[in-house]
Amino acid sequence: MRMRRLRENEATRNLIRETYLSKDNLIYPIFVVEGTNIKREIPSMEDCYHYSIDRLEDEIKELKSLGLNYILLFGVPDKKDEFGTSAYYEDGIVQRAIKEIKKIDQDMYIVTDVCMCQYTSHGHCGILDGKGHVLNDETLEYLSKIALSHVKAGADMVAPSDMMDFRIAHMRKTLDDNGFSNVPIMSYSAKYSSSFYGPFRSAAGSAPQFGDRKSYQMDIANSDEAIREIQLDIEEGADIVMVKPALTYLDIIRRAKDSFNIPLAAYNVSGEYSMIKSAVKSGILDEKAIFESVLAIKRAGADIIITYFAKDIAKIL
Ligand code: PBG
Repeated sequence: MRMRRLRENEATRNLIRETYLSKDNLIYPIFVVEGTNIKREIPSMEDCYHYSIDRLEDEIKELKSLGLNYILLFGVPDKKDEFGTSAYYEDGIVQRAIKEIKKIDQDMYIVTDVCMCQYTSHGHCGILDGKGHVLNDETLEYLSKIALSHVKAGADMVAPSDMMDFRIAHMRKTLDDNGFSNVPIMSYSAKYSSSFYGPFRSAAGSAPQFGDRKSYQMDIANSDEAIREIQLDIEEGADIVMVKPALTYLDIIRRAKDSFNIPLAAYNVSGEYSMIKSAVKSGILDEKAIFESVLAIKRAGADIIITYFAKDIAKIL
């Protein structure tokens, strides 16, 4: 077989191309901060910004003009306490941002990250016992309250990223009981205890104040366990499941795709972004590396990609 026959010219290469990126499969994360008139570049993440609610309009319009219609919203609150209560305030940062975005653009699809780490004084993703250990079952009530408050404010989809057991079942029931049975849940199902979240944690102010997240996020060495996590989330009612990070876990993405028949998302996380972005900015890598790295996630099997590169990709497409 002469393999090169089909590589000889562009028309033939186009004819047999197997993987495409589409703007409709990309979700762009946005960080909203308290205050006014703020559009501040995030030091650890070049070309990504902190926006105050009154400045969101520029960002939403830019996304719209690029043909990007899906966002993942993160709030950076100014009030934290042990129980992360500001995460479910009716007029909390995320809740107000959702309303404002829907005012700017009715059709912008808003997914919200549901977690407690930005809102707790200790920076962990749940509530703690006296010894600094995260209490799984006691945390579920809080997570469901947060999700419900997002949906009441107008979120189109919620995405729990905390990694507590049984949170999908709990959240599904809460949403159903409150008349939101049509709102889907995208679960961060196989979320690893990864070093690649570093730039995000400094951007969101969500680093744990002591210890690490190893008692709830997955061991970086495990693969079978990811399949069990995804299986459980599907059984509990997740509509979309996720693998996170993406580039260092392409094997997990492929395995999940082959194992389940459900929409699969992958999170191309902050560390993966900053690493490639800074290499491109400094001229070490050609900017084509951006497209190549995001395409790899799609080729591995992800249907949906959450990526800080969404704008760069949209400009290429
Ligand atoms: C909140 C959350 C994190 C990320 C998404 N949601 C941080 C963490 O778990 O420490 C990471 C996203 C990124 O690195 O881009 N739990």
